[in-house]
Amino acid sequence: MTSLRAIVHFLLQFFVYFLKVQGTLFTAPNQLTKTEYDFVIVGAGAAGNVLASRLTENPKFSVLVVEAGITNEGILASVVPFLAPTLSPNTPVCWNYTTTLQPGLGNRSVPYPRGRVLGGSSSINYQLYTRGSSDDFDRFAKVTGDKGWSWNSLIPYIKKGERLVPPADHRDTTGQVDPAVHGNGPLEVSLSGLLTGIDFRVINTTKELGHEFPFNLDHNSGNTIGISWMQSTVGESKRSSSATAYLDPALGRPNLDVLIHTQVIKLHSTGKVKNLPTFKTVEIAQTVDGVRTNVTAKNEVILSAGAVGTPQILMLSGIGDPASLKSVGVQALVNLPDVGQHLQDHPVLAIAFPVNFTGTFDEVFQNTTFAAQALQQWNSTGQGIFSDTPDNTIAFLRLPNNSPIFKNFSDPSAGPKSGHYELLFASYARPGTSGVPVNTTGHFITVGLVVVSPASVGSMALASSDPFAFPTIDPGFLTSKFDVFTFVEAYKSTRRFLNASVWKDIIIGGPLGPLANATTDDEIAAFIRSQAMSIKHPVGTARMSPAHAKWGVVDPSLLVKGVSGLRVVDASIFPEIPAAHTVGPTYIIAERAADLVKAAWSK
Ligand SMILES: Cc1cc2nc3c(=O)[nH]c(=O)nc-3n(C[C@H](O)[C@H](O)[C@H](O)COP(=O)(O)OP(=O)(O)OC[C@H]3O[C@@H](n4cnc5c(N)ncnc54)[C@H](O)[C@@H]3O)c2cc1C
Ligand SMILES: *[C@@H]1O[C@H](CO)[C@@H](O)[C@H](O)[C@H]1NC(C)=O
Ligand SMILES: *[C@@H]1O[C@H](CO)[C@@H](O)[C@H](O)[C@H]1NC(C)=O
Ligand SMILES: *[C@@H]1O[C@H](CO)[C@@H](O)[C@H](O)[C@H]1NC(C)=O
Ligand SMILES: *[C@@H]1O[C@H](CO)[C@@H](O)[C@H](O)[C@H]1NC(C)=O
Ligand SMILES: *[C@@H]1O[C@H](CO)[C@@H](O)[C@H](O)[C@H]1NC(C)=O
Ligand SMILES: *[C@@H]1O[C@H](CO)[C@@H](O)[C@H](O)[C@H]1NC(C)=O
Ligand SMILES: *[C@@H]1O[C@H](CO)[C@@H](O)[C@H](O)[C@H]1NC(C)=O
Ligand SMILES: *[C@@H]1O[C@H](CO)[C@@H](O)[C@H](O)[C@H]1NC(C)=O
Ligand SMILES: *[C@@H]1O[C@H](CO)[C@@H](O)[C@H](O)[C@H]1NC(C)=O
Ligand SMILES: *[C@@H]1O[C@H](CO)[C@@H](O)[C@H](O)[C@H]1NC(C)=O
Ligand SMILES: *[C@@H]1O[C@H](CO)[C@@H](O)[C@H](O)[C@H]1NC(C)=O
Repeated sequence: MTSLRAIVHFLLQFFVYFLKVQGTLFTAPNQLTKTEYDFVIVGAGAAGNVLASRLTENPKFSVLVVEAGITNEGILASVVPFLAPTLSPNTPVCWNYTTTLQPGLGNRSVPYPRGRVLGGSSSINYQLYTRGSSDDFDRFAKVTGDKGWSWNSLIPYIKKGERLVPPADHRDTTGQVDPAVHGNGPLEVSLSGLLTGIDFRVINTTKELGHEFPFNLDHNSGNTIGISWMQSTVGESKRSSSATAYLDPALGRPNLDVLIHTQVIKLHSTGKVKNLPTFKTVEIAQTVDGVRTNVTAKNEVILSAGAVGTPQILMLSGIGDPASLKSVGVQALVNLPDVGQHLQDHPVLAIAFPVNFTGTFDEVFQNTTFAAQALQQWNSTGQGIFSDTPDNTIAFLRLPNNSPIFKNFSDPSAGPKSGHYELLFASYARPGTSGVPVNTTGHFITVGLVVVSPASVGSMALASSDPFAFPTIDPGFLTSKFDVFTFVEAYKSTRRFLNASVWKDIIIGGPLGPLANATTDDEIAAFIRSQAMSIKHPVGTARMSPAHAKWGVVDPSLLVKGVSGLRVVDASIFPEIPAAHTVGPTYIIAERAADLVKAAWSK
């Protein structure tokens, strides 16, 4: 990762990526011509930009979006699909969070970046597009008592949000995706831009070992289980993010103002409606000069600051667990103990195997001239390695129903269409990837192992009443033995997968590193604990629950409990973590939320 970032840095001395000019963005509060809007949206991330775009379709609504980060325009690595991993951690487009020491990870702290740029994490993520299973959403409906969150009810919103476009190589994709389950929305989704023989071997393994590893034509059909071609948020060889797909087309609208370089500090309580406090004054600070201003929402403040930012703002505003707030000197105004609780995430680990197949992407990391040519090819034709995303094929898989672990644990997955674990296949080994030793020569296949239905649960809290201090983030990785068991099974499953005859002629050893010597489950588990990290899918820190439930933070309409006129729309509202990469589910809930808000204020 570091070396590719160095290569990109080197190349950028010579290349300028020319940008289209977009509408006006304000970069300081004093540029605003007014300070009162119908809606103030906090955070221009995946969800925030969906709301900004959908709400301003109604010319009667005025909307201000406040974003702490910078513009996404001009950031080459946020455009070139293959360069996604160079955008984090510790770059100018990130919140450079880290976790607390994780007992389940051998007391290591791991990086916890979030996007800090227009598009939020959708501008820096790895672009994998997975919606989750019908079981994931049906569980939301069941848990909240609102049928509107069920898969079937959400299908119109799923299709309203995305559309399938041709891959960069314009190949015939018959048999690689089911166009019938895709929609006609702004977010572009496509299959990987450049395939290698490794990818066909992954798919062909389903013919030989189809009982354990069935082929699944479309992992976004509601049933995720099996081996599939990867779908990514990429169109015309470029990243499709909430900034490019939703915000850019809306920027010219007279009823939309977008203010970047400006951090929301806290919400101020401004009165009461029906005996509930309102929080419609938003205190903001310009990030360069620190100058503070207040802006006000006439209708609603909508928090879309993400699963870390949203609970942090709630707590800074005095909404949370009173004892916890008091311990850092914040006055508690609304007793809502679940704010920041139930943080869930997916742990990931990559393993690499050397292959004697030359058509991998490894040269990009090993030869600067080759990387420069690949970037040139992307720029002039939109094709080649740099048009591709990090992974080309994907598997969601389940533990067998008779697995001994179910004697000790109830199944944390949402149902038979959700995986317990996931395998991600890549035609290279990226130096610096967790679990993969740096290797400067050779050709590799990498398998990413992910526990996608974890039983572990963590939490986050304020570390200080200082709004600029990073919060304390504890995802509780691998604190449940269920997750360790599942991780070990994912590794053993990978070994069975790569034992198929299509791999025999090319895999020449491995896995790289000390894992090669791990034979017992305990040895495999020890390696996992020493190397696993976050795949950066935090959710659940402002969970949705039934309207009158004592637990939870928001009701099924995503309104904050015990408060009037404050909504949360982002990944923090998931009651349980979906067995999916979380940007897809976030877009889905945001599309429905936009309709809920419109309906509430269009009378
Ligand atoms: C490195 C990385 C890789 C990932 N890879 C994938 C992937 O391949 N596929 C996938 O599906 N998911 C992936 N994810 C996760 C996915 O991107 C997120 O789940 C999704 O973007 C969440 O959307 P959101 O709207 O909740 O928050 P975000 O998209 O993170 O947006 C939150 C926005 O709020 C802003 N903000 C926060 N606090 C404040 C404040 N106080 N004031 C003003 N603005 C504020 C932030 O700067 C940010 O722009 C990845 C995430 C990361 C970080
Ligand atoms: C990309 O192509 C444009 C012309 O289309 C050129 O101006 C620019 O320098 C090129 N950049 C790279 C990265 O090759
Ligand atoms: C994250 O780190 C990068 C690189 O050091 C820096 O440019 C950026 O400002 C940091 N972000 C924050 C929010 O501190
Ligand atoms: C982690 O730290 C705790 C508390 O300091 C300690 O009790 C425990 O033994 C440590 N675990 C490991 C694996 O180092
Ligand atoms: C995969 O299977 C197809 C059809 O049987 C075959 O044509 C192709 O050569 C195989 N590819 C690899 C890499 O095994
Ligand atoms: C914002 O409004 C609150 C509540 O009225 C007030 O306490 C605070 O000082 C104001 N901040 C600014 C920067 O005006
Ligand atoms: C590096 O890549 C260039 C361009 O593809 C190629 O000509 C050269 O031989 C490569 N160098 C090595 C050491 O493989
Ligand atoms: C289940 O729990 C029992 C008793 O603690 C233990 O012996 C057994 O190993 C556990 N099984 C699994 C699969 O973890
Ligand atoms: C690098 O890869 C080769 C195979 O190509 C392998 O033999 C060697 O052990 C690897 N080095 C490391 C440090 O893993
Ligand atoms: C690999 O396949 C062989 C048969 O080809 C089988 O004997 C062996 O048990 C398999 N190993 C694993 C790990 O599945
Ligand atoms: C890879 O090595 C095997 C022997 O280990 C050999 O049979 C095969 O032909 C080699 N494949 C390539 C592409 O060199
Ligand atoms: C595996 O164990 C052997 C024998 O103890 C040792 O020589 C080798 O270095 C070990 N390999 C790794 C990658 O740790």
